[in-house]
Amino acid sequence: MLHKTLKAFPEDFLWGASTSAYQVEGAALTNGKGPSVQDVKEPPAGTSGFEVAADQYHHYKEDVALMAEMGFKTYRFSISWARLLPKGTGEVNEEGVQYYSDLIDECLKYDIQPLVTMYHFDLPAALDEQGGWANRATVDAFVEFSELMFKSYGDRVKYWLTINEQNMMTLAAGAVLGVDTSAPGAQKRIYEMNHHMLLAQAKAMNLCHEMLPNAKIGPAPNIALVYPESCKPEDVLASQNMNALRNWLYLDMAVFGIYNNIAWSYLGEIDAVPENILPGDMELMASAKPDFIAFNYYSTATVKMPEEGAESTKGDQQRGATIAGFSQGVSNPNFQKTEFGWEIDPVGFRNTLREVYSRYHLPIIITENGLGAYDKLEQDENGNDVVHDPYRIDYLRAHIEQMRLAITDGVEMMGYCPWSAVDLISTHEGFVKRYGFIYVNREEFDLLDLRRVRKDSFFWYKKVIASRGTDLA
Ligand code: BG6
Repeated sequence: MLHKTLKAFPEDFLWGASTSAYQVEGAALTNGKGPSVQDVKEPPAGTSGFEVAADQYHHYKEDVALMAEMGFKTYRFSISWARLLPKGTGEVNEEGVQYYSDLIDECLKYDIQPLVTMYHFDLPAALDEQGGWANRATVDAFVEFSELMFKSYGDRVKYWLTINEQNMMTLAAGAVLGVDTSAPGAQKRIYEMNHHMLLAQAKAMNLCHEMLPNAKIGPAPNIALVYPESCKPEDVLASQNMNALRNWLYLDMAVFGIYNNIAWSYLGEIDAVPENILPGDMELMASAKPDFIAFNYYSTATVKMPEEGAESTKGDQQRGATIAGFSQGVSNPNFQKTEFGWEIDPVGFRNTLREVYSRYHLPIIITENGLGAYDKLEQDENGNDVVHDPYRIDYLRAHIEQMRLAITDGVEMMGYCPWSAVDLISTHEGFVKRYGFIYVNREEFDLLDLRRVRKDSFFWYKKVIASRGTDLA
């Protein structure tokens, strides 16, 4: 649709950026924090562990001041479960409680609204040892953790996100959920874990509304529209299959409390229907209502119907997998790719926003969007630190333009938080895959001095925010 005039970004639009605790904080095994599943697993070859990361634990004042300088209205960060409850339940680490309290106060000092992710890939290792999400007791532990957060920070935090990318944990499972995907019955086990996470999310949403009537809470999956490779009806079926399994399963459950029918039928086919749905679970899911939908968007996906006999393969958040008889990820020739092989599809961002809003009619906040690259720290002629990242500016500009078109299409948008505020450790590709507006001076293994440097994208985003999204030059 062509628009003669574009609608403006709302006045109270939450411009900001995101991070997650284990990827940015450091102090992973100090200051009373217990280990999480991220701390006990072996990092992928050639990438560093999370002991120091960007050391935000010790640099949070400086980081928040830089965010304020960019004009942030919100900062999305996650709270490390094992920092508050080192064993996942029971004994509280008061120093950890104080850390997030200080971080929240620091944000509010600059009128930056904290947007808190309650759980971002870092289950306490102690809970994992007792079966992790396969164990129903983890649902109760999450409720205990939620109550502690609402009690400690609910007087100051208005916006809450339940679980980051539950769909990616489930689809690309293994590493984060601790499941050996080649073991017999692995898929059923994964979807039983998924059911427990859905239940945990529903309970947290209800508890939030009970304890904090003025707060707002929503889910935070990774949503990407899945295109058919061609107009062959079979390819359209494949795209519907993948859209259901990747996207709608999570949003239908969060919003309506129902299992998506296509996804459910697929689970039946692969003998993965969760058997841990107890009486009362579905009523509980239906009673929990999000106030908004948050989602992470990096790119769309494209699929075709696999040939008969095609074997299943693995993907990551963006690179598509093949599921025999269901859908096969293909590369889309219309797009350029990042240095890390992720396709760039800004128009797909508008497509995805329109689709999500038409289905659920809830305000949307984008909690991740961005480009990972090998940025380079240089010195200008006066010896000042500079980082030229025009590729990131191009990526973000194109996505913001499409977001404005989506707003003009009638999509109700609340905010935009690219990944990431500060350079941090990627989920599986190390520190050198950088996303931040703020450069952190360290290498993969050499920590150097961790000093902060404003990238070109920092100055650009500052202008974008100051002009309420109209000056994207
Ligand atoms: C999202 C995650 O999947 O993508 C983040 O929520 C992650 O934690 C981001 O860092 C970028 O992915 P990656 O693999 O490049 O770190």
